[in-house]
Amino acid sequence: MKALSLKGFQIKPEDDFLDSRKAILVNSDVSLELAAPRKSLKDYYYKNADCDEVIFVHKGTGKLRTILGNIPFEYGDYLVIPRGMIYQMEFDTEENRLFIVESKHPIYTPKRYRNWFGQLLEHSPFCERDLHGPSDLETHDELGDFEIRVKKQDMMHVYLYASHPFDVVGWDGYNFPYKFSIHDFEPITGRVHQPPPVHQTFETGAFVICSFCPRLYDYHPKSIPAPYNHSNIDSDEVLYYVDGEFMSRKNVEPGLISLHPAGIPHGPHPGTMEKSIGEKETLELAVMVDTFKPLMVTKAALDIEAPGYYKSWLE
Ligand SMILES: [Fe+2]
Repeated sequence: MKALSLKGFQIKPEDDFLDSRKAILVNSDVSLELAAPRKSLKDYYYKNADCDEVIFVHKGTGKLRTILGNIPFEYGDYLVIPRGMIYQMEFDTEENRLFIVESKHPIYTPKRYRNWFGQLLEHSPFCERDLHGPSDLETHDELGDFEIRVKKQDMMHVYLYASHPFDVVGWDGYNFPYKFSIHDFEPITGRVHQPPPVHQTFETGAFVICSFCPRLYDYHPKSIPAPYNHSNIDSDEVLYYVDGEFMSRKNVEPGLISLHPAGIPHGPHPGTMEKSIGEKETLELAVMVDTFKPLMVTKAALDIEAPGYYKSWLE
């Protein structure tokens, strides 16, 4: 057990969407994956019957095509796809980088931001207007051979439908895919350092997803903007760096991932605490996943490890 740093952009691009997805950190609740798919998913359709998926788009634009309609996506979008949804990913170019959270538990917005009716409250960092469901419903009344790959019990099952899966003429209900742009997250700031729950975007019974967005630093006259050293006891902490300079870290590049396992203290790198004094704002953009159960590191993760990260506080 040690802190790890992974160079996410070293995951090699692959043509096929499913082949390109590489699990890097996993437990029985969640699988964190990196993907650099080159081609649109055209020859078959995909359905994850085990998990809800959150696909964070780091690079690339295109369209998520689903049985309930389409969702155009771009840099910074979280695509939330409930389990059982048949979908395809259409990319505009071959330059795509995705960070994917595959969850055995349903993905919700944080309960503390919702009222008794389920509506998002005024102090929530985002609201219903920021969540975009599918539109542009395509109804294909076609017969033929349509391949559906269904993931169930971690195995892929291939089904051949005799009619086009996107033959829906209308739908109703509250279980649908949607997108939320990280750029629409309104950061919560304070006079003194605000703890990570202010960044929370999604919750499940087994982990949370947080968005670290460009924001003003703490504005107490004696505040030190860099966070304090801490040791999580309730969760393993995964940070996926998207853009901007990260305030408490050195040598951070886009696509870099850090894993700080529960029980090991961590905090700002030497010098970054002092450097942060007097700074007014940060342009950092990052996605954090805190899992309540420990994460296991896969072979694919060790292949992209930046060696010696756990000793980087000694430099
Ligand atoms: Fe932390």
